[in-house]
This record gives sequence, structure tokens and C-alpha cells, in this order.
Amino acid sequence: MKEIKIETVLNVYDSLDELPKDVISLMKKASEARDKSYSPYSNFSVGTAILLENDEVITGSNQENASYPSGLCAERTAIFYAGAQFPDVKIKRMAIIAGSKLKTTDTPIPPCGACRQSIAEYEVKQDAPIEIYYMGEKGKVVQSHSLENLLPLVFDKTVL
Ligand code: THU
Repeated sequence: MKEIKIETVLNVYDSLDELPKDVISLMKKASEARDKSYSPYSNFSVGTAILLENDEVITGSNQENASYPSGLCAERTAIFYAGAQFPDVKIKRMAIIAGSKLKTTDTPIPPCGACRQSIAEYEVKQDAPIEIYYMGEKGKVVQSHSLENLLPLVFDKTVL
């Protein structure tokens, strides 16, 4: 038997103000996208802004459905659009902001497992890291230099 220990590295900032201007601006776009969230069932709204290598910014928000599983998270709404519109352009960075409409969310909200898997697909496809920043409505911001740090033991095309 051999034990495997998995380590990951994330940077935690006390507030958005500690980050460079371009990251603040991307997070603001994520926040604006969050305002367009359609989330009448969960009352939990999420916004994402994706910066592409050609400097295009793609945004998305969670879109819910009366048939609950038919809804889609903000991250996948945005990254699938980026993949559909700019299939050959690399993704540099993603900013994610999330929180409940019913209470203040001041802890960083990481992307769910399904979104991590979807982001991983594009990271593997482009063979370059996707930097991720995520936060609640206010407070600390977490930075991950690559999606890999958020999803060790990824299932990707190499196993097929
Ligand atoms: N949600 C996202 O948009 N992204 C995530 O990573 C986690 C959850 C959405 C889905 C649903 O509309 C609401 O948040 C509550 O789960």
C-alpha cells in the first residue's frame, strides 16, 4: 500500500482592492453579469467573466429552470459560449462572484464540481493554464493559478 498525498496551492486576498486593476475590472464585469442571473428557484446568483487571449471578455450568469436539472451554472454558461464563439482563442482568466439573494455571502464561493470539470476540458484543450479568481459578494478573493489546483486527479481525454 502506498499513500498518495495531494497538495494544492491557492492564494487568498483579504479584498478585491489588493488585486491588480485588470483583475478588479474583470471581477466587476462578473458582478454585472451576476445582476442578470435568472435564479428564481435558488435565489443564489452567480456571475462569471472570462478574459480571452484576444482581450475579448465573455460573461455569463446562472440560468435556472422549473425543471431544476435543466438549468446551468454561470461558469458553464460563459465558458461554453466562449468555446462556441472563439474555439481557437485561449482563455486567460476567469472571475467568479456568487452569493445568496437572501443573505450576505462574504466567503469565497468556488465553482462547483461540474463547472471545474468543464473548465478543465478547456484547460487541457488549450494546453495552458486558466487562472481563476472567485469570491462571495464581498470579502476575501481566492486566486488559483490554474484550474488543475481546484481539480486534482482530473478526468480528461488522455484516459479515453
Ligand atoms: N451555481 C453556479 O452558477 N455556479 C456554481 O459553481 C455553483 C452553483 C448556480 C446553480 C444554481 O442556479 C444556483 O447556483 C444554486 O446552486
